[in-house]
Amino acid sequence: MGDSGKEVFTRLLMRWHRQDNGRQMPWKGIRDPYRIWLAETILQQTRVEQGWAYYERFVQAYPTLEQLAYADEQAVYRLWQGLGYYNRCRNLLHTARELVQHYGGEFPRSYDGLLSLKGIGPYTAAAIASFAFGLPHAVVDGNVLRVLARYFALHIPVDLPEGKKLFSQLAHKLLDVQDPGAFNQAVMDLGATICKPRRPACNHCPLAVKCQAFHLQQQMQFPVKAQSKSIQSRYFHYLVIRFQAKTLLQRRIQKDIWRGLFEFPLIEKNALWEVEHLQQTPEWQNQLPTDDWSLKGVIDLQQQLTHRRIHARFFYIETPVAPHISPHQLLVGWDDLCQYALPGIIVKYLRRNPYSIL
Ligand code: ADE
Repeated sequence: MGDSGKEVFTRLLMRWHRQDNGRQMPWKGIRDPYRIWLAETILQQTRVEQGWAYYERFVQAYPTLEQLAYADEQAVYRLWQGLGYYNRCRNLLHTARELVQHYGGEFPRSYDGLLSLKGIGPYTAAAIASFAFGLPHAVVDGNVLRVLARYFALHIPVDLPEGKKLFSQLAHKLLDVQDPGAFNQAVMDLGATICKPRRPACNHCPLAVKCQAFHLQQQMQFPVKAQSKSIQSRYFHYLVIRFQAKTLLQRRIQKDIWRGLFEFPLIEKNALWEVEHLQQTPEWQNQLPTDDWSLKGVIDLQQQLTHRRIHARFFYIETPVAPHISPHQLLVGWDDLCQYALPGIIVKYLRRNPYSIL
């Protein structure tokens, strides 16, 4: 990107900010580092609409840094209630006390000084440095990433270290050094009100004339995220062992999505396996110690979770010989299965299995 690239982006954005950015928020334009810190900490994992009222209650209860530092801890936590991620609240109190005790009640006036405080990362440090002190540091949040990725049609994934570095350098290059705070606010507001994740309002966008993604009509292709991280596949093989109108269940104890639910004995592999291979495994042989069993049916099902896709293969096996029962397993009547809390995919299976009562 040459200088003219910067000039156009920054000039168009700042003109829109001065003339047309009508977004109102209680922390906007404020130069008090305490209130900026409070707002940005609340907004870290919280949407603006939700954070708004919390910010106003905090400012009302604790208008200054000193008042927060000397506040009753439980009262502060109660005020935070409902926002979640309580370590934000813990850090807020810790840093307020730290600043009052060791910094004379003043925020450091440099990016690095701010960054050294507990709970203040690159994003919040840049926000305080630019909004409160007019220092030339660019904020990079989800809005900024989306605006830049689309405007320059950048294919580099925003969630990889190389991507993070590149986007942060780019934001820094584009920064309006005359008014870094206004620039940062402008990109965030543009991202929130016009360059929205799902339905960007390109017909109202001051940058559309030069936006590469708009030009290519590929707005929704940006920002690019590294897929491998977001969708991971897991491969479950369930042994549905039928013995005298009963079957084996086990409780899932791993710290994961289905913790505490009941499922059939499970063999997890890095892909879906056929019975010829699976029956050679120690897990299978431990569960069915004799060869006296017959496979009556195999059903494959899938379940999509937020960050995972589950591929499940169910082996319906009948045997006249009692299967091995491990300490965490129990033999339950086939007709009583529905009395147990089961993962959705197992319920789905039981509805499909022709021998089932569900
Ligand atoms: N989200 C986080 N901080 C923000 C700010 N200062 N303005 C708008 N949206 C934000």
